[in-house]
Amino acid sequence: MSQTCAQWHLEPTRLPRHIGIIMDGNGRWATSRRLPRVAGHRKGVERVQEISELAGNLGIGALTLYAFSDENWRRPEDEVGALMGLLRWYLRAEKKRIVKNDVQFRVIGDRRKLSSDILSLIQDLELETRNNKGMHLSVALSYGGRGEILRAVKRIVSQVEAGEAFADDIDEAGFEKCLDTAGLPPLDMIVRTSGERRVSNFLLWQAAYAEFFFDDTLWPDFDSARFVHNLRAFSGRERRFGLTPEQVGKKTASLLG
Ligand code: FPP
Repeated sequence: MSQTCAQWHLEPTRLPRHIGIIMDGNGRWATSRRLPRVAGHRKGVERVQEISELAGNLGIGALTLYAFSDENWRRPEDEVGALMGLLRWYLRAEKKRIVKNDVQFRVIGDRRKLSSDILSLIQDLELETRNNKGMHLSVALSYGGRGEILRAVKRIVSQVEAGEAFADDIDEAGFEKCLDTAGLPPLDMIVRTSGERRVSNFLLWQAAYAEFFFDDTLWPDFDSARFVHNLRAFSGRERRFGLTPEQVGKKTASLLG
């Protein structure tokens, strides 16, 4: 992994531990080439493969990709069908590589709307990779940050009702254990492609101290070099976590610890 960092001239200790990516711009990429929108999504899947492989090789702890939002269910039926078809293909085709690369795979989001065959592909892959030690690769599917927070609240309420927890004892760490991202490293960086500057209901709780990067590149054009460009920009940011610049010099290292 440090070999890959050296190859890209990146300092491993200045890299984010957890990156979220809002992969935007597939439709515009296709339309500008007079292709159907699904051609953009297809090219987008190739970038998913490229960027997740590189992130793993760089030693990034966790990568969370926004593949399908809660709101995306309202897209035209044929586009939803095409995206689900691509997802099916991805889960089957990537299995070998995910397992070989020691990646820990999970899906975050509301699974209730997913078809049973996709669900069982996801469950198989999660089960098969749960003891892996490499990068956590999470795909946000049928996902919305507000929905995730509500699901966590409901889990906590039922624990309290069952007498397994006390309302007064609920703290941030306990709450995080009820989120879909439980156990993942803190989110350090969010990248959104295609020039849009919105968070679009992605990892709302987790983004509290994330650094945001808005890249004009459309996702199907977002290659390794563009990813590394953003990682370099991250390495150069000073993160203060609410402290003064004077405190940061002394404390950042321990906060990142
Ligand atoms: C946003 O572009 C992208 C999506 C809604 C889907 C993202 C999905 C992929 C990259 C492929 C599937 C992923 C996996 C993991 C198999 P858009 O369609 O909103 O683009 P536009 O804003 O240009 O219309």
